[in-house]
Amino acid sequence: MTSDDAPGGPGTQRRRADDRARVSTRTEVREAIRTEIAADAPTTSEMRVRRENAGMPVIELDHVSLAFDEPVLEEISFAANEGETVVVVGESGTGKSTILKLILRLLVPDKGRVLIDGEDITHLSFEEALKVRQKMGMVFQGAALFDSMTVFENVAYPLREHTDLNEDEIEARVREKLQFVDLDADQVMQMMPAELSGGMRKRVGIARGIANNPELILYDEPTSGLDPLTTGTITRLIMKLQRELGVTSVVVSHDIRSAFRMATKVALLYEHHVVFFGTPEEMAGSDNEYIRDFLGGF
Ligand SMILES: Nc1ncnc2c1ncn2[C@@H]1O[C@H](COP(=O)(O)OP(=O)(O)OP(=O)(O)O)[C@@H](O)[C@H]1O
Ligand SMILES: [Mg+2]
Repeated sequence: MTSDDAPGGPGTQRRRADDRARVSTRTEVREAIRTEIAADAPTTSEMRVRRENAGMPVIELDHVSLAFDEPVLEEISFAANEGETVVVVGESGTGKSTILKLILRLLVPDKGRVLIDGEDITHLSFEEALKVRQKMGMVFQGAALFDSMTVFENVAYPLREHTDLNEDEIEARVREKLQFVDLDADQVMQMMPAELSGGMRKRVGIARGIANNPELILYDEPTSGLDPLTTGTITRLIMKLQRELGVTSVVVSHDIRSAFRMATKVALLYEHHVVFFGTPEEMAGSDNEYIRDFLGGF
């Protein structure tokens, strides 16, 4: 046996790549997912059982369609029950960020309904929509901190906008949230975003997203642009929010590995439709050709 043929050696890897579209892909994906899930056991599986029993849909899209110049979303239906984390995956431009904007009611669907806590938000007035939006925390694509504000002011921003907490209460809350995301409040509060690493910026973005103690949190690409270690840290942080605060989340992500770790359900978007909605295990076991291709790189 040459070193090229050694397990995991270049020969094997070439063969793996060649086989990717076939059955072996599914086996490899299943293996990889088992490893991912095992890394978080037993807490994750306990959480899954608890959440699956939790019942009521907190966020629901019911046959939602939306077009700009061209159709973007068609007949999209899925729900996130209390305490669940639904991860929306799909190629670039398939409408993932648009789904979050519909949930925030920054956009209104052409057809179908969006329900939050069972309430149809499609036809709310601007003021009513603001009230619903206050139940939600948003972690924007690229963290999107206000560059001219300190870390403290960034995290305090939603508190100043949406609550009547006094200065002492605001400071206590900002410290609590920074601590929750494993940042040293004394060290970072007066820093400017430009002085932070990418991972720290994402954490500050999460601290700001949870400052209001929201029932639901929406994340747009929380791990994009991060190295694998920092991606792991942010993924664990999102899982800690589910576990310790019981929040319901919708996470948009390109990163299928971290998606599988945190998802109770995965929604896969393709050509304007949700072509799969189910648990990571069900997705890994799917025979659908597009799903297998999508997971091929995992
Ligand atoms: N306000 C808008 N006006 C016109 N077209 C829009 C608008 N917002 C989004 N689109 C179009 O809708 C489609 C979906 O965009 P969206 O940003 O939701 O994709 P995405 O899945 O989040 O992509 P990415 O993974 O690159 O972030 C794209 O074709 C985009 O050009
Ligand atoms: Mg996007």
